Amino acid sequence: MTGKCRFDFQDTQVFVVGGTSGINLGIALAFAAAGARVAVASRSQDKVAAALAQLRAISPREHLGVSFDVRDKDAVANGFSVVAEAFGWLDVLISGAAGNFPAAAASLSENGFKSVMDIDLLGSFQVLKQAYPLMRRPGSNIIQISAPQAAIAMPGQVHVCAAKAGVDMLTRTLAMEWGNEGIRINSLVPGPIAGTEGFERLAPGEALQRRVAASVPMQRNGSVTDIASAALFLASEAADYITGAVLPVDGGWSLGGASMAMAELGQMAARQDSGEHR
Ligand code: COA
Ligand code: NAP
Repeated sequence: MTGKCRFDFQDTQVFVVGGTSGINLGIALAFAAAGARVAVASRSQDKVAAALAQLRAISPREHLGVSFDVRDKDAVANGFSVVAEAFGWLDVLISGAAGNFPAAAASLSENGFKSVMDIDLLGSFQVLKQAYPLMRRPGSNIIQISAPQAAIAMPGQVHVCAAKAGVDMLTRTLAMEWGNEGIRINSLVPGPIAGTEGFERLAPGEALQRRVAASVPMQRNGSVTDIASAALFLASEAADYITGAVLPVDGGWSLGGASMAMAELGQMAARQDSGEHR
């Protein structure tokens, strides 16, 4: 995996939380390919080890992997102290850990709602708070991985819509609080990204995914490389005056097609929700 764009991150230390699969792993690998030293974290030690092996195959830098659940405040703090010990400081933080499943609100338990809020929103808050002391210098920057559900209502996604809307407000609020220290923070909003867990959960199977592609103005679903390239840009000096932005990287999907496709997919998923998790 390499970003489409050429950026030099030789002198850069990057931590990708939730960076062991899918979009976030693609971002981690793109930073490594651009010369950065990279740390990744997620719950599964096996996924962390596999991601680390991929990073090491790209470059001989002293990359790092740590395992924690963003819902466990003490574990997050321990994970960050391991990264702080090895790296000393962070130049770039990617906050991308998330959980998703389709469920109609009427059959979604309080704990189901809370699980996604705890991972996506409270988890992001804990991650940002832990990162802050390692990033208090001009030029450092944070990218949060948001989702179209933050701004577009989707049936069967009340938990994700609420959580990701909160994620974007964390971005905007902290851009105001931390801007005077030179720390930038932005949200990236991927459209439908082919070959990822998140897309497969909401649009299972090739036929549905082709229909989604037809609703995108650019007539294709996105790739992990599309998102990784945008992350490299946002983290680079080329984006030096961009903070508090919520940037769709979606082939124009959010201009209209997303509302219709997400309504259709969500209604389908909500209808099929058996309520078996209640
Ligand atoms: N429909 C309705 N409720 C569901 C559900 C579903 N498909 N899947 C889980 N839940 C509910 C559970 O029933 C439980 O609530 P309860 O205690 O009231 O029964 C609650 O959510 C927590 O479930 P649990 O399986 O214990 O959660 P977990 O902590 O093991 O996993 C998830 C968290 C549920 C978010 C899981 O999907 C996950 O780990 N996702 C990560 C990968 C992912 O989602 N990738 C896409 C990113 S966009
Ligand atoms: P993914 O492969 O499932 O990635 C999720 C990552 O987060 C994994 O590394 C996972 O690893 C980690 N994670 C999950 N729960 C965690 C927890 N509680 N604590 C720590 N780490 C946790 O999914 P993806 O589809 O690529 O999605 C990545 C991001 O893009 C998410 O923020 C998602 O909302 C966003 N997004 C995706 C799409 C899409 O089309 N796929 C579209 C819009 C937005 P472990 O399982 O090891 O914890």
